[in-house]
Amino acid sequence: MDTNTKYLGLELRSPVVVGSCGLTADVDKMVLMERAGAGAVVVKSVFEEQIIYDIKRNTHMYAPTDNYGDSYEYIARHVADGSLERHFSMIADAKRRLTIPVIGSVNCFSYENWLTYALRFQEAGCDALELNMAILPYETSLSSDDVERTFSQVINTLRKSVTIPISIKVGPYFTDMAKQMQQLSWMGIQGVTMFNKSVQIDIDVEKEELTSASWLSSPTDLHNTLRWVAILSKKMRCDISASTGVYHADDVVKLLLAGATTVQVVSCLYKNGIETLRELNEGLVEWMGRKGYNNLADFRGRLAVLPAEKASVAMRTQFMKYFAEIM
Ligand SMILES: Cc1cc2nc3c(=O)[nH]c(=O)nc-3n(C[C@H](O)[C@H](O)[C@H](O)COP(=O)(O)O)c2cc1C
Repeated sequence: MDTNTKYLGLELRSPVVVGSCGLTADVDKMVLMERAGAGAVVVKSVFEEQIIYDIKRNTHMYAPTDNYGDSYEYIARHVADGSLERHFSMIADAKRRLTIPVIGSVNCFSYENWLTYALRFQEAGCDALELNMAILPYETSLSSDDVERTFSQVINTLRKSVTIPISIKVGPYFTDMAKQMQQLSWMGIQGVTMFNKSVQIDIDVEKEELTSASWLSSPTDLHNTLRWVAILSKKMRCDISASTGVYHADDVVKLLLAGATTVQVVSCLYKNGIETLRELNEGLVEWMGRKGYNNLADFRGRLAVLPAEKASVAMRTQFMKYFAEIM
C-alpha cells in the first residue's frame, strides 16, 4: 500500500504530519516522530512576543528611551538575533538528522516582521513555512475586512521574496469561512492548515478569576475540522492540512475522504505518546488494504462536497437524516 503524498510540493511518505507544538521544539523527539512514521514535522512556532520578551529581559528596558537613543535599537536587534539564532540552530540540527521535510512556523503581530522572520526561516533551510495566522476577532473594532486585509498584505509581501512553499494556519472563526478560505487559496500560497486551536478559557470559581482550560483538544473537536474540509477541499486551489481532534486511524481516513492532503496531530501525541504515529499509519494502511485501495489518490476527496454542489444543501441533508431518525 502506497501512502506517499505530495504536500506543499514536497514528497511525503505519509499524510500524517506532526503539528507545531512543544514536542517539535526538541530534535530528539522529532527523530522519534520520523521513526514512528511521521510524514513531516511542523516545528514549534517562533512568536514575535517571545523575541520581544527576550529583548526586554536582557536589556531591562520596556521601551526605547531617549537616554539610550540609537543604542536601544542596536541592543534589541542583538538580543532578537540571539533568540532567533537558537531556534534556527535547532532547525539546522533537525535538517541534519531527519530525512522527512521540516516545516518552520512563525507568528508575528507587527506587519514588517512577518517578512523579516520568514526570510530567516528560508535561510535556515526549512522545506516550507507555515504562517501561524490564527486571528481571533476579539476586538469590537475589528471587522472581517480588517482581517482579510491583514491576510492579503502579509501573503502578498511574502510571496514577492520568499521562495519556499508557504501555508497559512488559520483559526476556526470567520464570519464568512467558505469565502475567506477560497480567497486565501487563490493568493498563490501552497496550503491552508485548518485549524489552530486557541487556548480555551475557564473560570476558577473560588479565586473568581479567569484561567486557561486544557490546551489539548478532545476527539469530538474533529467534527468541525471534518465539516470544513469536506465543504472546501474541492473548492480551493491549494492543499488543505486538517488539524484539530485527530486521535485515531479512522480520523485520518475520514479527513482524507473529505479531501485533506495531510492530517496534523498534536494533542493525541501529548496524551498517548509519539508511538501513536505508528498506529495511525498502520490503521490507515490496514483500512486501505481492506477497501482495495492502492494509494491515497484512489479515495482522497470521495466524500467532499462537489464544486457544483451547494454546501448548504449537503449539510442540511445530514441534519434532515438525523432529524428523521430521531422522530
Ligand atoms: C502544547 C501545545 C503547543 C502548541 N504550540 C503551537 C505553536 O507553537 N504553533 C502553532 O501553530 N500551533 C501550536 N499548537 C496548536 C497545534 O499545532 C494544533 O493546531 C492544535 O493543538 C489542534 O490540533 P490537535 O487537536 O491535534 O491538538 C499547540 C498545541 C498544543 C497542545
